[in-house]
Amino acid sequence: MNNKIDFNNKTILITGGAGFIGSNLAFYFQENFPKSKVIVFDCFRNDETFHNGNLKSFGHYKNLIGFKGDIICGNINNKDNLSLLDDYKFDYIFHHAAISDTRVYDQEIIIKTNVNSFYDLLVIAKRNQSVVVYASSAATYGSLSSPQTEGKESPENPYGYSKCVMDQIAIRYAIENPDLSIVGLRFFNVYGPREFYKGNTSSMVIQLGHQLLDGNTPRLFENSSQIFRDFIYIDDVIQANIKACSPKRSGTYNVGSGIPRSFQEIADILQKELKTKLGTEYFPNPYKGYQMHTQADISASKNNLGFEPTVSLEQGIKSYIPEIKRLHGAENL
Ligand SMILES: NC(=O)c1ccc[n+]([C@@H]2O[C@H](COP(=O)([O-])OP(=O)(O)OC[C@H]3O[C@@H](n4cnc5c(N)ncnc54)[C@H](O)[C@@H]3O)[C@@H](O)[C@H]2O)c1
Repeated sequence: MNNKIDFNNKTILITGGAGFIGSNLAFYFQENFPKSKVIVFDCFRNDETFHNGNLKSFGHYKNLIGFKGDIICGNINNKDNLSLLDDYKFDYIFHHAAISDTRVYDQEIIIKTNVNSFYDLLVIAKRNQSVVVYASSAATYGSLSSPQTEGKESPENPYGYSKCVMDQIAIRYAIENPDLSIVGLRFFNVYGPREFYKGNTSSMVIQLGHQLLDGNTPRLFENSSQIFRDFIYIDDVIQANIKACSPKRSGTYNVGSGIPRSFQEIADILQKELKTKLGTEYFPNPYKGYQMHTQADISASKNNLGFEPTVSLEQGIKSYIPEIKRLHGAENL
């Protein structure tokens, strides 16, 4: 395992690079490997919404202000758009573009966007002999009991299903092409800077932070002290992406902290950091079949990627506070 890759003079594609995780990755390379050549491919947002009222894509130019690499506005569902990538020879492909909204139920568009495009990207990877890292998701586990471990999946929405299918495709492709390195990262609940433009699909950390800064009592589902999630800070997610470039073996790996924390704890840590004492307001959980507990089993990620989460929930929220404050009241346009 070589975790000290020099990305200088390497050509790196980031699909979904105008989104939350992709844009953080773009800046990671720019700041740490100034001679890397980074290409962001993203459809960016337009005014179109899904039935649930959310935007069809969340990519936002504000996530990329200051980024000096190439930007290509394109749709991964459109082969002509993907052909714009033919001029490059990629050493690394980070595939993050997706419909990331877990509450979209239009199966056709989700599976087309998340699955069909993956075949096309793998063809590009094979042609270029690129190392591939792509985003899978903890949604592949549905409401399986904790800890969630790779190899046992049970998706409960089209989004989770689409990521499961991507994982199957990746495993098969890696077997058929043993020279290629293909790693899927099953992100749990990621939070941190550059998620604001995901609107109401952004993490509860920023949503509750803004409720508090509005002077409002944070609103949580009833029994929120008993609802646990594996929250992971963006810096650790970037670390996972980098370590996934030199795995012991191709495969699908969990990316979480390994430590379940409750929504109540998020609200309490935020109140401590923001020095508010607004209590908590509870309301009935409208969702049936709601996942009550997630906790990533990260033993395979540790062994095969060298992944090691470093940021506690307390530390992550503390370092995120200035950004939460900066964006308070900003328009999500
Ligand atoms: N943030 C999390 O907690 C989390 C958890 C599990 C998995 N993931 C996965 O990680 C990846 C990145 O997630 P994120 O939180 O940064 O989401 P995001 O929505 O901010 O980023 C996804 C990007 O993909 C772009 N995109 C969407 N459809 C596209 C299309 N048809 N063509 C080109 N670009 C398109 C969007 O514009 C957006 O910039 C996604 O694949 C997501 O499913 C994220």
